[in-house]
Amino acid sequence: MHTPKLRTLNIIGAGNLGRTLARLWSERGVFRVGNICNRTLASATDATAFIGAGAPVADIQSMAPADFWLIAVADDHIEAVAAELAIRLQSANAEAQSTGATPVVFHCSGALSSSALTACAPAKIASAHPVHSFADPERSVNSLAGTFVALEGDALAREYLEGMFAQLDCTSITLSPEQKVLYHTGSVIACNYLTVLMDLSLQTFAAAGIDENTARKLLEPIVLQTAKNNFALGPENALTGPLARGDLQTVTRQLGALTEVAKTQPQAAPPPLADIYRLLGKAALPMATRAGLDSAVAHNFQTLFDNPPQVNPSQAKL
Ligand SMILES: NC(=O)c1ccc[n+]([C@@H]2O[C@H](COP(=O)([O-])OP(=O)(O)OC[C@H]3O[C@@H](n4cnc5c(N)ncnc54)[C@H](OP(=O)(O)O)[C@@H]3O)[C@@H](O)[C@H]2O)c1
Repeated sequence: MHTPKLRTLNIIGAGNLGRTLARLWSERGVFRVGNICNRTLASATDATAFIGAGAPVADIQSMAPADFWLIAVADDHIEAVAAELAIRLQSANAEAQSTGATPVVFHCSGALSSSALTACAPAKIASAHPVHSFADPERSVNSLAGTFVALEGDALAREYLEGMFAQLDCTSITLSPEQKVLYHTGSVIACNYLTVLMDLSLQTFAAAGIDENTARKLLEPIVLQTAKNNFALGPENALTGPLARGDLQTVTRQLGALTEVAKTQPQAAPPPLADIYRLLGKAALPMATRAGLDSAVAHNFQTLFDNPPQVNPSQAKL
């Protein structure tokens, strides 16, 4: 019986994302991991240890031929690395043509399209963005299943990659090159800036004298519940709190307290908490109004956010 040849995957940039995908693909027998090239040989060696497969090399020109090439360096360096890889592919071109195989080169950036890889033509080029936060590869290998992957680029490359990601229990969607920047910005706002909001929240608790450990414990159930409500009900119906209730005095006192915090912590990096609170409050108003907030009350909130109050310190306790 004919057994199809296991395809080889080379990786340039086996950091958080690259080593996670490589380990899963290797463990599931989807790819044979070939060469790994990072900025340093030590880092590439570390990546192969994590992946449990592959051979580290010191530079791109020393990499062996492969069927698939993943460029998983930081976005700003993808184009330059692709130009280096193009030189390597040209020197391997005759070999590839003799076997009739055209390699696939892909990156995993959410914001960039496959055009960042144009230098690698005639290789088939694509981008494949997993909508997942690869903060810790060990956690990601156990939590990637169920992730969506946005594919864009050459049709055959997309077809291959859809199959490769399906074997990691990921579901693919297809985007046009024009959609990518705003699509990715949407994920950044919901995911990365949620983390920033958490940090701002913890700063506010700290200003009230509540330590981070306690604050994280008390926030966890309500933040998780809020996230679930957002997906079950939609943001409009998930919004609760003083603004949604029309409690103008409470919001005024909170804004005053944050303004006081900024005064007592001049070393805090701008923008101050009060400015962020006002901006988010303004952003919440149209949604709160659609959800039933009286338009006259919404107007009073708008005036408050446009003209922050002079603070009476006695009212500003958090
Ligand atoms: N992290 C996420 O949550 C996430 C999610 C979706 C998509 N992505 C995308 O995945 C890609 C990689 O992100 P990441 O978070 O995995 O980055 P990362 O953890 O910073 O890893 C980047 C890797 O690239 C290597 N590198 C940098 N410049 C290089 C060069 N010139 N030649 C060879 N190797 C080089 C680094 O080597 P050293 O180790 O030697 O420094 C490092 O191993 C990006 O396009 C990003 O947009 C990331």
